[in-house]
Amino acid sequence: MSIGLDDVIAAETILSHVDGEAGRLIIRGHDLEELAGRMSFEDTTAMLWDGLVPDVSDPGALFGEARERAFRYLSPLARSLSGLSPVEGMRLLLSALPDSDEDPASLAVGASAVAAAMAIRGAKGLGPVEPDASAGHAADLLRMIKDAPVDEARAMGLDTYLVTVIDHGLNASTFTARVVASTEAGLLSSVVAGLCALKGPLHGGAPGPVLDMLDAIGTIGNADSWLDDAMARGERLMGFGHRIYRVRDPRADVLKAAAARLKGNNNRIAFAEAVEQTALNVLQRRKPGRRLDTNVEFYTAILLDALGVPREGFTPLFAAGRTAGWVAHALEQESVGRIIRPQSRYVGPWPAQAA
Ligand code: ACO
Repeated sequence: MSIGLDDVIAAETILSHVDGEAGRLIIRGHDLEELAGRMSFEDTTAMLWDGLVPDVSDPGALFGEARERAFRYLSPLARSLSGLSPVEGMRLLLSALPDSDEDPASLAVGASAVAAAMAIRGAKGLGPVEPDASAGHAADLLRMIKDAPVDEARAMGLDTYLVTVIDHGLNASTFTARVVASTEAGLLSSVVAGLCALKGPLHGGAPGPVLDMLDAIGTIGNADSWLDDAMARGERLMGFGHRIYRVRDPRADVLKAAAARLKGNNNRIAFAEAVEQTALNVLQRRKPGRRLDTNVEFYTAILLDALGVPREGFTPLFAAGRTAGWVAHALEQESVGRIIRPQSRYVGPWPAQAA
């Protein structure tokens, strides 16, 4: 038995491969570094979906229309967001999408962007901003969050982020999406289930706490003692460690470089780098031989913060990118045509023997 299913292969996929020893992420035959910052999120999604979704020949138009369609479904629910965190609000909104939509794959991607922006604004008591179908997906998502024009550099920063997190093997949320797809519950249900698994702090809920950690550390002189004390209390350092990577997560450097391309961010990055190095030293000291390294979430926090996204909104943006991957995996799983149904070993009491 493997409690965390560590070495279990539960699916064959053409979508992505994570090489944990080499620190390499391959997405449909391309290294991540060939895609992030070079191919738009829309085009990367079309490439990921090739052969799984019938027509993605004009992904910009497809996702623009999907954002508009999603807004029609979701905007009446804006008032229900009060008192919910952004990720809770996003979960509520995505749950409201109808399975009967004519194109649930593109609706899921459009709706994830619309729902993320609506939920981030709703948590602050702000009303939703209508999508602009003619804009790029990342630019429109950022504009719908801020209700203000977005410059090219920031739109590019978010586009790079969405591509970087688009797919990543059989991670916990993707596995969840595939389990739901295997029951033929439908694509939108797979996406909602994926979001529910993503939101935990051991998965996609980590980048907000990374920023909390950096704020609590405050100055680099405090870093060693702060991090060491946290580990002495048995806490995990957010943004470090991974089930598959035994070396640095390749997404960390892609996101760090994207953050560095944004003006006025140098001091922040220098501080993050210094804390990162200290954390690696503390991890080495406290968990010798464990091969714990930086994961995607550490520089996600730096990049999304530099884009002006509130920290509670980081997980919804992760979901907005990963939805494209959940959809692709759900479709791939549906085509397998067999329910995922493992077994448990019963260790509870047995009924008393009848006399
Ligand atoms: N800080 C301190 N210690 C850690 C950390 C960490 N970030 N990560 C792992 N460890 C320790 C564990 O305590 C364990 O030590 P032990 O065997 O002495 O008890 C050892 O390293 C191995 O850890 P596992 O729990 O076996 O690692 P697992 O593969 O189950 O967990 C996970 C991976 C959940 C990502 C873990 O590293 C973690 O909690 N990291 C912090 C949260 C985080 O950054 N999450 C985002 C992950 S990336 C993503 O999902 C998008």
